[in-house]
Amino acid sequence: MAQKPAVDDLTEAQATEELADLAQRLAEANTAYHTEDAPAITDAEYDALKSRNAAIEARFPHLKRADSPSDQVGAAPSEAFAKVTHAVRMLSLANAFEDEDITEFDTRIRRYLGLAGDAKLTYTAEPKIDGLSLSLRYESGKLVQAATRGDGAVGENVTANARTIDDIPVTLKGAPDVLEIRGEVYMSHADFEALNTRQAEKGDKQFANPRNAAAGSLRQLDSSITRSRPLRFFAYAWGEVSEPLADTQMGAINRLSDLGFQTNPLTALCDGPAEMLAQYAKIEQLRAELGYDIDGVVYKLDDLALQARLGFRSTTPRWAIAHKFPAELAWTRLESIDIQVGRTGALSPVARLTPVTVGGVVVSNATLHNEDYIAGRDSKGNEIRGGKDIREGDWVQVYRAGDVIPKVADVDLSKRPDGAEPYTFPETCPECGSEAIREEGDAVRRCTGGLICPAQAVEKLKHFVSRAAFDIEGLGAKQVEQFYRDEWIKEPADIFTLEERYGSGVKQLKNREGWGEKSAKNLFEAVEEKRNIPFGRLLFALGIRHVGEQASNLIARFYGSWDDFTAAMDSAADCEGPEWERLLGIDGVGEVMARSLVTAFAQENERESIDRLTAHLNVAEAARPSTDGSPVAGKTVVFTGTLEKMTRAEAKARAEALGAKVSGSVSAKTDLVVAGPGAGSKAKKAEELGVEIIDEDGWLDLIGQA
Ligand code: IVH
Repeated sequence: MAQKPAVDDLTEAQATEELADLAQRLAEANTAYHTEDAPAITDAEYDALKSRNAAIEARFPHLKRADSPSDQVGAAPSEAFAKVTHAVRMLSLANAFEDEDITEFDTRIRRYLGLAGDAKLTYTAEPKIDGLSLSLRYESGKLVQAATRGDGAVGENVTANARTIDDIPVTLKGAPDVLEIRGEVYMSHADFEALNTRQAEKGDKQFANPRNAAAGSLRQLDSSITRSRPLRFFAYAWGEVSEPLADTQMGAINRLSDLGFQTNPLTALCDGPAEMLAQYAKIEQLRAELGYDIDGVVYKLDDLALQARLGFRSTTPRWAIAHKFPAELAWTRLESIDIQVGRTGALSPVARLTPVTVGGVVVSNATLHNEDYIAGRDSKGNEIRGGKDIREGDWVQVYRAGDVIPKVADVDLSKRPDGAEPYTFPETCPECGSEAIREEGDAVRRCTGGLICPAQAVEKLKHFVSRAAFDIEGLGAKQVEQFYRDEWIKEPADIFTLEERYGSGVKQLKNREGWGEKSAKNLFEAVEEKRNIPFGRLLFALGIRHVGEQASNLIARFYGSWDDFTAAMDSAADCEGPEWERLLGIDGVGEVMARSLVTAFAQENERESIDRLTAHLNVAEAARPSTDGSPVAGKTVVFTGTLEKMTRAEAKARAEALGAKVSGSVSAKTDLVVAGPGAGSKAKKAEELGVEIIDEDGWLDLIGQA
């Protein structure tokens, strides 16, 4: 599709035409939603069309149509709500699908806490409500703020809307001064059906499922609409609290119930995995009669002191897990298999399907994972699906689990068309023709073309400009593709010389199709603005394999400055030595990620490309975690001997959270050695070097956790 001119550059005639076009496209999108009970375009696309329509109307108010889409109610664009920074991040949960995952969950916790296999551990088990999470902040017993989860750190302020929900008390008696309650907003099946009937009578949009209906109803700009929608709320967790609610999860839930919140009546205490699985079976059996959607069971360690010891990984608590119900399924025809090349060169097979509705969403593409999966093998060569391979033309089973990409699960051989051939996975890259190889132990075949592969280069660029990365206004995936094709931008650094090259002279951006004076100027300004970039964003934007957004921020906070970080990467290039150990020591950085990271920085072409980029940037230092008042901030600590009150992993995680560096060996740089019984050579060396030595109790005393 041709790039649309910026709204400011539109002529009246163009505006009239586009408004008509938008009215039609939005009406079609509404109808698809309405009659087929399945959205034809994504929510993001819908929102983009609506906001373009609103922007054109704002510039040409007299051209606003009688049937303007702006006058029809839809999910409000997220920019419409004020942002709220959560006092305590709203986290998500790790998922489990098999019974064994639950035993492993229990084992991991025991290992982390250093508990024997037979020590008693109690968990709560409760339904996982399929709605959307909401955080309610009460100060002196008054509801002062309600916010959606958003990205976990920053959500949307929906206070006025939350006040209209009957299950949400606006005043509390006997509550702590500050109390943040977290829970799920949902809609019952009966209310959902009735709402859709009312919507149909009014000719308004139908909701695909209760979750969408709840989300659409909560995120309304006009709270009188929210009031008219029958939303409900279950409380199941908390954020900031000025005093503890209880000693146990169950105690806290009971307290929430006493304060006037709805808590789920199926919440039960379980002594270990066997009882947890029994409660899972019970809840699964009751699922159809509950009258609201649930998609699994959540287990949480009951003892809150132990929860605190376990803490969190980057986005999920170590002390809780969601045991999901099996996913929703549908059968359809596999029309063809396409190969997509990603930014790391991975050749991913994509199933093009005859569209089918799975759990309220139309699915026409699904992942086939990799070549082994298509052939009916797992990565170790064992048979999957009883060894049945998947061929173009086959009748296949598709499933969705949560919000993830749909997958092809099974194939019905009785419906295989005559003459269907086994699929041959390409051994060359379909985009650049380079050899595509599979390294030992890797399930994925990768294009070896590196930056010469247009698919990889473009995907890297798209990732670079994406929302969580550089997020340059006016430079999205489409524009980047066009600039790459015309060789205006071949690598990220080129974005920052765009104005120099195309701001004046013979070839100018403003003369390009789809661009004008104003939009070109805006883009140059937007690029200029992003020359100042936070360290974490820059690292994430580089698109290094295995290094995601969370990890990038963790790493940024750990090293603080970009220069210190690159120097550390240089010292760790051989994957050994103290800098390598330090990198591995970051909670949340595993060996695979660490290797990928140092390799990217050690690889000549890639490093040069990164350096060319950073020459144009001012990389803002990342705030190290606040360790104000920490007695061990900046100190290098060595743990040796046996620790009796905590495990090594725990001691290390705690020390690092307090700003200490934990090292494995004693040197002149060591500030403190914590020696338990049986400490040997390290304690001796510390003595020789005159380094302070304390025991475990002394350490707990020092950090105020005795
Ligand atoms: S506890 C720190 N309990 O599931 C843990 N979450 O997949 C906070 N959810 O974001 C979450 N029912 O929106 C918890 N009984 C329950 C839940 C529940 C639904 C949602 C919640 C969370 C998501 C994670």
